[in-house]
Order: sequence, then structure tokens, then C-alpha cells
Amino acid sequence: PKKEYILAIESSCDDTAAAVLSERRILSNVVASQKVHEEYGGVVPELASRAHQAHIVPVVNSALTEAGITAADLSAIAFTAGPGLLGSLLVGTSFAKSLSLALSIPLIDVHHMRAHVLAHLIEAEGVKNPEFPFLCLTVSGGHTQIVKVNSPSDFEVMGETLDDAAGEAFDKTAKLLGLSYPGGPEIDRRAALGNPNAFAFSRPSLEGYNFSFSGLKTSVLYTLQKAVAKEPDFIQKNIDDICASVQHTIIEILMKKLVAASKDTGIHRIAIAGGVSANKGLRNRLSELAEKRKWELFLPPFEFTTDNAAMIAIAGYYKWKEGHVADLSISASARINL
Ligand code: KG4
Ligand code: ZN
Repeated sequence: PKKEYILAIESSCDDTAAAVLSERRILSNVVASQKVHEEYGGVVPELASRAHQAHIVPVVNSALTEAGITAADLSAIAFTAGPGLLGSLLVGTSFAKSLSLALSIPLIDVHHMRAHVLAHLIEAEGVKNPEFPFLCLTVSGGHTQIVKVNSPSDFEVMGETLDDAAGEAFDKTAKLLGLSYPGGPEIDRRAALGNPNAFAFSRPSLEGYNFSFSGLKTSVLYTLQKAVAKEPDFIQKNIDDICASVQHTIIEILMKKLVAASKDTGIHRIAIAGGVSANKGLRNRLSELAEKRKWELFLPPFEFTTDNAAMIAIAGYYKWKEGHVADLSISASARINL
């Protein structure tokens, strides 16, 4: 039989990405990150969609070339339909629709957050595929969820953030510290050099599995304001300890709910996904907990944690195999439920 190839496109935020998949194997995974946002301290939607327009054709071409195929070999095209920035999503959506029409191949709309989770089903070196059901802690710049994954298409959201996402908690505190955007990786790097118990920041006391991070941000802000009033170079002198303490607090907020979800469901297969899952402190803490609680841990390789199209390809693959294809009336949405 003829080999089947899926091209996947991701453009929900500030990375333009394309990947080619055959069966469950990734043949190419190309990402063009946008530098334009750094000087603004956050993603500027209008600039993001313009950069996607500039990047999408070269990124798709590289993905096809690296996979050793041409567009004529494609069997289907998957794309991120949401959630994300509407102007950014529209670039990938329009491109995918046009290509599907031009090549007369099926179009598959993919949910970005489901794709982060389904990256665990990719067949690749360094990827351990969990059996079902498993629990996934999805932590990104826009979302924070604990999801019970019963099958590639059956997701139950057990808990989610009521305000800021975990990635936002990193990025917003980094901004208070004068670090550049996105602040998560920089806090991660500095946290390794500091004392996680140097400062105590407030933690929410919420019932159930939901999260809240806005109180932490306020708590950091007040601590810094008070300290800087007494000692103007307080932040510079203590930056590593502040980063370590902030990171420690975020991790403990996450772990408290994840431990409860695992206890209550009896599920010991634990996965993490999303950009924040790159965090070294989080990975170390999870490994400790896994040892203590006999968890089987699934930590994705870095290339599949931050936004990428390989995850869109694998999510598209399962939808396609289950017969869930879209037609040309499909549109992108900034918000869609999991
Ligand atoms: O999943 P992602 O690439 O994009 C979204 O869909 O949001 O996640 C981006 C988020 C940003 O908030 C970034 O600061 C955070 O992931 N991030 C990290 C690390 N690497 C990326 N946060 C903490 N530690 C890291 N090493
Ligand atoms: Zn994402």
C-alpha cells in the first residue's frame, strides 16, 4: 500500500511550525520562533500574525524537504484550529484550507491543548507512550489543566486554573524582576543557583483540583516593593533566591493538586505537557514524587514540550483514523473547550 503522510501546521501563538508524520513517526519537525516580541515583554498579536504570514511558506517547505517528500505525496493536512490568538490561528487555518482544496486531501482540525497531551503518543526516540488511562498535567503560557486521558479522543478535565496559567505566573514574575520575555526559562536557569526556601510566597487554598496563580504574583510584587523601599538593589542582590522561591511555590501549587488527582483516581501513570513542562525544577520534583508514590512518569523530550507541529500531526492522525475530518466551512476559534 502507498505510504500515508500527514502535514501539520501550528500557528496559535508566536511560533510558526510545520511537521510531517507517517503512521505515528515524525519525519520532520520545523519551528520558526518570532523574535519581534522580545522588546515588548509579551506577544503582540498583530505582529505575530504578520510574522506567521512571512514564515509559513518557508517553514512548510522545510518540513516537506526534511521529510524527503513533496506536497503531491501528502494524504491529509492537520492544523491548529484553536485555542489561541485569532489572527495567528487564521494564518495556519487559511493555509491548510487552501492546500487541502488544491490537493483534494482531507483537512483535520486539531485542538491545541489536546495536541500537547497527545504528543505522548508519538513514536520517536526518547518518547515513552503511556497506556490509558493516564493523567496529564498540561502547563503552558495560556493553560493549566489536569486532564484524565481515557483514549486519544476521550479527555476529562479534572481541574484547571481559575486565573493565570502557570506559564503566565513565571512570565509575569520574571517581568517584575526585570527579566526578558518569556521569563520561564530564565527563572528556571537562575532557580538552580538559588535557595527555594529563601522567601515564602502565598499559596492558594482551593478545594478540588483547580489552580490559582494571581495571588502569587501579588505576593511577589508586595514582597519586592517592601524590600526595595528599604534596599534599592534588593532584587539584583537576591535574584537567584527570588527565582528559586517563586519556582518552588509554583511547583508546589501544581504538585499538591496532581498528587490529589492521582490519589483519588488511583491512576499512577502521570504525564506532563506544555511549555512549562520543560522546567527542570518541575521535572526533578516529579521524579522525587514518582519514586515515593510509585508513579510511572512520562516526560516529553523538549522539542515536543513547547509549541510544535509534531504534536498537531499526531493529534490529527488519531482524528483522521477515527474519521473526524473537517470541511472547508471550518473556522479558527480563539477559545474552544477541550
Ligand atoms: O506551550 P507553550 O510553548 O505555548 C503556549 O501554548 O502557551 O508555553 C509557553 C510558556 C511560557 O510561559 C514560557 O515562559 C514557559 O512556557 N516556559 C517555561 C520554561 N520553558 C518555557 N517555564 C518555566 N521553565 C521553563 N524551562
Ligand atoms: Zn502550547
